[in-house]
Amino acid sequence: MAKRAAPEDNAAAMTPVVQVLPGTAAVAEAAAAAVAAAITQARARRGRALLALSGGETPRRTYARLAADPYRTSVPWSDTQVFWSDERCVPATDPASNFGMANTALLSRLSAIGGVHPVRGDLGADAAAADYDRLLRSFGDSGRPPRLDLILLGVGADGHTASLFPGGEAGAPGALAATSIAPQPPISRVTMTLPVLNAARAILFVVTGANKRPALTRILGTPPDLSLPAAQVRPSAGRVTWMLDRDAAPAN
Ligand code: 6PG
Repeated sequence: MAKRAAPEDNAAAMTPVVQVLPGTAAVAEAAAAAVAAAITQARARRGRALLALSGGETPRRTYARLAADPYRTSVPWSDTQVFWSDERCVPATDPASNFGMANTALLSRLSAIGGVHPVRGDLGADAAAADYDRLLRSFGDSGRPPRLDLILLGVGADGHTASLFPGGEAGAPGALAATSIAPQPPISRVTMTLPVLNAARAILFVVTGANKRPALTRILGTPPDLSLPAAQVRPSAGRVTWMLDRDAAPAN
């Protein structure tokens, strides 16, 4: 008897869902609920959840909401493995560290977590990228990218996401993690590559602020402007949800 594919396995035909919410707090609230639901469903179906977090102020607000009730205690964090979509090559104690930000906003406030897998930014870019590539491969099978249950992503005003920047290198073919150079400091970064992002069961973009509208208009346009990295995040069998505030949402 063929195994009935889970709904998200048939998500290839799904078009991105765009939710426009009244403001930044509403985006954080809705995003926290979506992350909680994805983790809970993954644990129920597969015994664990694989979650990747990003840096940035919009993602941070979602982490702060997840650190409060009910999510702090209702989400099966002890069965959740936490990864990062990207990291700055700085020590974890540096204020610019994406791990440090998520640890302060959320992880340090949870009683138990299944696993925390920061990018070793302190190793320097090349070594950190190679180390993260190995880690991600260990969660995939036979060298394929791991199929993360949810990757939470922000988007920059230039259309970057994770640390994939317009016109930048996106890693050698087949790489799961790569070094990257950001246009603003800290410039040395490590990022998940598109094959990992596009293997995800779910992508959740959280974007707020009027400065993001021009990029979002290009990313969500018809056709999308594929020169922008955020527009290249198109999982072959995963759902993409955009949670925007009114300022960031393209004029309809
Ligand atoms: C980083 C992030 C980056 C971020 C966007 C949005 O390391 O800076 O991973 O991709 O998510 O720049 O950040 P804001 O929400 O703060 O605009």
